[in-house]
Amino acid sequence: MKKNYEKQIKELREKMTLEEKIGQLQQCGPSLVGAFEVSFEELLNMMFDGRISQEEFERLMGTAEQDFHEEDLRAGRIGSYNGIGDAGTANRLQKIAVEETRLGIPLLFGYDVIHGFRTVTPIPLAESCAWEPGLWEKTARIAAKEATAAGVHMTFAPMVDVAKDARWGRVSEGAGEDVLLNSVYGVSKVKGFQGDDLSKEDAMAACLKHFAAYGAGEAGRDYNRVDMSMQRLWEEYLPPYKACIDAGVRAIMPAFNDINGIPCTVNSWLLRDILRGKWGFDGLVVSDSNAIAECVNHGIAEDKRDASRQAILAGMDMDMSSNSYIECLKELVENGEVEESVLDEAVDDVLRIKFELGLFDRPYRTNEEREQQTMLKEEYRAIALEAAEKSIVLLKNEENLLPLKSDAKVGIFGALAADKGQMTGAWAIGANPDDCVSIVEALKARGISYQYSTDGSNLLEIASESDILVAVIGERKEESGEAASRADITLHSEDLALVRNLQATSKPVVAVLLNGRPLAIPELDQMASAIIEAWHLGIEAGNAILNVLYGDVNPSGKLTTTFPATVGQCPMYYAHMNTGRPGGKSKFTSKYLDAPVDPLYPFGYGLSYTTYAYEDLKFEKDEDGVHVIVTVRNTGERAGEEIVQCYTQMPYAKRVRPVRELKSFTKIALEPGEAKQVELKITNDNLEYYDWEMNRIPYEGKLKVYVGGNVQDTIVEELALS
Ligand code: BGC
Repeated sequence: MKKNYEKQIKELREKMTLEEKIGQLQQCGPSLVGAFEVSFEELLNMMFDGRISQEEFERLMGTAEQDFHEEDLRAGRIGSYNGIGDAGTANRLQKIAVEETRLGIPLLFGYDVIHGFRTVTPIPLAESCAWEPGLWEKTARIAAKEATAAGVHMTFAPMVDVAKDARWGRVSEGAGEDVLLNSVYGVSKVKGFQGDDLSKEDAMAACLKHFAAYGAGEAGRDYNRVDMSMQRLWEEYLPPYKACIDAGVRAIMPAFNDINGIPCTVNSWLLRDILRGKWGFDGLVVSDSNAIAECVNHGIAEDKRDASRQAILAGMDMDMSSNSYIECLKELVENGEVEESVLDEAVDDVLRIKFELGLFDRPYRTNEEREQQTMLKEEYRAIALEAAEKSIVLLKNEENLLPLKSDAKVGIFGALAADKGQMTGAWAIGANPDDCVSIVEALKARGISYQYSTDGSNLLEIASESDILVAVIGERKEESGEAASRADITLHSEDLALVRNLQATSKPVVAVLLNGRPLAIPELDQMASAIIEAWHLGIEAGNAILNVLYGDVNPSGKLTTTFPATVGQCPMYYAHMNTGRPGGKSKFTSKYLDAPVDPLYPFGYGLSYTTYAYEDLKFEKDEDGVHVIVTVRNTGERAGEEIVQCYTQMPYAKRVRPVRELKSFTKIALEPGEAKQVELKITNDNLEYYDWEMNRIPYEGKLKVYVGGNVQDTIVEELALS
């Protein structure tokens, strides 16, 4: 049960000066200062655009020190820090806040704990392929234990931005293209991070992001505009945020993008009418980094002052990193452009989360000893391994080449195979490369006879002495994540050349893909005998990949994002509308002249070392909805886990509907030959949609229900709804 702190909040707020109130809304990070006169961000830009070399950048960074703005802190001008991930620094700053500021209000420490803190688990996109809410919660729990031990109070996660365009770099940070999966994933993460009582020392507030529809940026370009119908927004993009709010998430971050012309940062329809009004959210709203000031670039605010006015009026509580509120709010309140009561609401939201976290009673929720004892425990590593194994998706396995025999001689190629630091993927800022197990290390530890070449230089010699050739290719971690959109999501030319040369030797080729997004890999699909999609799996990557390669683990992951057959198909996603002329063989249908209609690998797809059959699909209806009952049989010779997926289609509705919509899923374990009856629930609520006037209406008529192991391979029955 959430406790009520409104009385304490009001009493404290009434003691605060205007400056102290504004100070509570200020979140900053440590700045880097050194033998350079520009800001760290500018220095980075200078390196990226070639004004200084990488060596010069590194030399300058060697001189850098962190400035924590202690003077501002003492003066009550800082309410929160972002990016401090060690107990010593956090407690030192907290001591200043508690002992040296006039009112002693504790600080709130936020940090991007996206997929693990020190025990880095698979990137969210990878982990979503496990389709396992219990696992998602478990990895969030260990992340919270480690991060809170390091002084973190709030993580900027989960990201539940539905992402249908593989070009967007941040597809790596969420659960893929489906609205239901993102909802279930987000709710599990919120539970895992926050636990059942935010005041417990290992509970971490979750800050849901990026509200809203950040994943729908035009053409997959980061930060880009979002222009969409209200129906689409409500049906395909907003539900995951709503689900997490219903699950009790305590903070939210508005997105960088605009929606239909109004940036989310200053969008009062979004932040007041929907979030607080319709959904009843009473938590903290924190801007994205520098987003308030960037409203000037959007062309919707005259200057920072105007941006601050619009943001606070729209309901933005806390300013991350732009210094807009701290510079401008005082004057805005003093001259009456912003009512003090508006400011008070924002202050209350900040104080509320601090009370809920128990910071007034226990401002130091950790210490260095706990920090040391908590990191990277054996049991956490075991969970990281389990998560990594379950995230792997087997895309191709011609003639059952896999699993490999342990006495087969392996030739392994590609720099990624041995690069420990690359195993973690994007957004693993608390990671230590030394914690990671690379594929080459794991081969060595298993005692496999292997030869390794990073670039394929002695390829022919290695190939002649090997039984199997493994190419480890894909993307470096810098190629996905924020500001890492790609216009061309094919393999890099050197990776393709490597696979081509390996194939030319006539030895069987296994491709292991390490990447943060779906890639367009039609040539690879032609050339390699087996393909393992291993994403960026975290510290246990090498062990997990070998467990799958050698059959200790039967792969069970299924894609949560469609793999296009070619880049030009993007955005490619399964839940598209049919059009009046569905794409087909004949000329005047909805398709491209030079690309297939279908993707390379469909949503929900993933092979196993066994096979499954689906039969006997039937329904039972009750007041709450429909029970879909199906029998699934393991028809192969190995035990395995199958992710059973249920889709519907509304063939005749008041608005055009997607060709398929995922409505329910579950994972089951089956011994060889075993059959199980599985029950999947579709609630009535899940059979509603929006009409033209934005009313939510029930679907009536014949519903098609599809059940299977991916969106394309299903059995189907019709169900009459009235
Ligand atoms: C990202 C957020 C992140 C924030 C704080 C921003 O650039 O968009 O997702 O939480 O930085 O580090």
